[in-house]
Amino acid sequence: MIIAITALKGGVGKTTTAVHLAAYLQLSAPTLLIDADKNRSALVWSREDKLPFYVASQAGSPGLIKKFTHIVIDTQARPEAEELEDLAQGSDLVILPTTPNALDIDSTLKAVELLEPLKINYKVLLTRVDARTTNGRDARKVLEEAKLPLFKTEIPLLVAFQRAPSRGVIVKDYPDPRAGIGWSRYRSVGKEIMV
Ligand SMILES: Nc1ncnc2c1ncn2[C@@H]1O[C@H](COP(=O)(O)OP(=O)(O)OP(=O)(O)O)[C@@H](O)[C@H]1O
Ligand SMILES: [Mg+2]
Repeated sequence: MIIAITALKGGVGKTTTAVHLAAYLQLSAPTLLIDADKNRSALVWSREDKLPFYVASQAGSPGLIKKFTHIVIDTQARPEAEELEDLAQGSDLVILPTTPNALDIDSTLKAVELLEPLKINYKVLLTRVDARTTNGRDARKVLEEAKLPLFKTEIPLLVAFQRAPSRGVIVKDYPDPRAGIGWSRYRSVGKEIMV
């Protein structure tokens, strides 16, 4: 399965989602994460070789692809419309992560406008949801009213997600009492994809 993670906005959890979904998919079959972001965030995250799957740059990926069952593509923020189209057409599923922030939701609705005519399979994932506020619930309502395909699972705002990259690990391997919650949510997202 080829899964592309994209969004028109930066900082919405694309790389975090790509890394944790790749970790989930790797549990069942060899998975390659292609870092198609010029900032090389996923490659930097993988530098200490502690991630449980293989990460390659876009330039380094063509020779590798055939060796893997699942491919997860992490992309840069603000892709051109054409880039988004190419990505969408080459993938089985496009995941659009968004925080509940109104501006991010707005960008997600714009991305959907670009994707909708392409008749591709896409799904919105709410990320960085602060359980202390009703923002997540409010955002879900807006997205549901707009009739967007939406993951039932949402990703909570957790310090462990911010800190895991500096240790080169996924959240499951970060020593924090709440880190397990973060990993279980990405596992649930993975299950929603694989049903
Ligand atoms: N669920 C979460 N809880 C807390 N912090 C998070 C969560 N998800 C992501 N973050 C943090 O938010 C910031 C942005 O996340 P991330 O890098 O995954 O987004 P991105 O969309 O890939 O950003 P960019 O557009 O810069 O590539 C990072 O500091 C990351 O650690
Ligand atoms: Mg990123």
